[in-house]
Amino acid sequence: MPGFVRDSEGELTCDGVSLERMAREVGTPVYVYSAARIRERYEAFDRAFAAVPHLVCYATKANSNLSILKLLSSLGAGADVVSGGELRASLESGFPHDRIVFSGVGKREEEIAAGVAAGILAFNAESERELEKIDAAAGAAGKKARIALRVNPDIDAKSHPYISTGLKHNKFGVDIGRAEELYEKARRLRNLAVTGVQAHIGSQILDPEPLAETARELAALARRLLDRRFALETLDIGGGVGIAEPENEGLSPQDYAAAVLPALEGLPLRILIEPGRAIVGPAGALLTRVLDVKQNAGKTFVVTDAGMNDLIRPPLYGAIHPIESVGPPRGQSSTADVVGPICETSDFFARDLAMPAVQENDLLAILDAGAYGFAMASNYNFRPRAAEVLVEDGGFRVVRRRETFEDIVRTERG
Ligand code: LLP
Repeated sequence: MPGFVRDSEGELTCDGVSLERMAREVGTPVYVYSAARIRERYEAFDRAFAAVPHLVCYATKANSNLSILKLLSSLGAGADVVSGGELRASLESGFPHDRIVFSGVGKREEEIAAGVAAGILAFNAESERELEKIDAAAGAAGKKARIALRVNPDIDAKSHPYISTGLKHNKFGVDIGRAEELYEKARRLRNLAVTGVQAHIGSQILDPEPLAETARELAALARRLLDRRFALETLDIGGGVGIAEPENEGLSPQDYAAAVLPALEGLPLRILIEPGRAIVGPAGALLTRVLDVKQNAGKTFVVTDAGMNDLIRPPLYGAIHPIESVGPPRGQSSTADVVGPICETSDFFARDLAMPAVQENDLLAILDAGAYGFAMASNYNFRPRAAEVLVEDGGFRVVRRRETFEDIVRTERG
């Protein structure tokens, strides 16, 4: 399997290419992605749904580096976007307009207008009011906008509460009990083509049952709408497929498909899926140098040059990312906190982690960081955002250079 593997000398590589060399040439912190692994993950989803007409709409929010978008568009993926910026980046990266769906609980007028102008596959509309806004934008442009209604099925994704979206008290979608009433209303809006149903119940979901339940609810709704002569074309089951965690295997694309397909087969609809994390998460690592190894009150702290501004998932969601030394592991294992240089105690990557002895200047790889890593990075503490590198065809290239001081202050200078 492509990705982060040790070579015969015990050194961690990305697809056989030296991570130590990348860190020396590009500096740290740096995100490294395996193009082969991204391809493999996309193709696994595509194959898993081969039994039905389908489209894998990559959730670009997980990692919107233009080179990764181009790679996925070249493989035939669609895109799930949530902002005008993601829409534009996707179009510029080669995603055809009719393979783009536009999600998001609050869309600005100009974002809706941009989606209408592009002629996207569907707006995933989040409310009654949003249906009216999309209708108005389409009318102003003299076009018809294709819409799916995002329904809230009140299903517990059993994931972290911050990334669970399918419960009725969450802000997302419309109560599935009101769906038919809203579909009738949408049908009366002259500039809308009502083409789909959609739901997305959360992220990093490891139990297939809530996803299967969602598929059953959507299929039942779609059947009722087809009976009422709605000209539906798509049924979109959202994203959310979870990746491996310590002590949990992750939900494979095959097992995911096996869970949801029984409810969907036989429907005269194209099935859309919106995976983000499961495509890029395992394909990326954050490389960071050890700045210091210090003891406080008998506790060991490994201080790295990456901080929570580079990868915020551990403090924000309690996410556990495996951390490995890039060089061959040496010495006895002991426990340490791996922390960044930022001025708050929430700036950690791991706490009480059992790891082989590390020294100043060692290179560490924080794994499974390809999704929601760089994408959620900030300039906190006036820190430039990291560089990004793509490993492909036995070599690597910088796909985003490290920010500079000037990059950060440009929008502030008079
Ligand atoms: N579709 C919609 C409408 C979404 O809101 C999302 C993610 C996805 C698809 C893709 O979900 P995925 O397959 O990646 O699970 N920052 C958080 C994750 C937030 C996910 C938000 N929505 C994290 O780092 O865990």
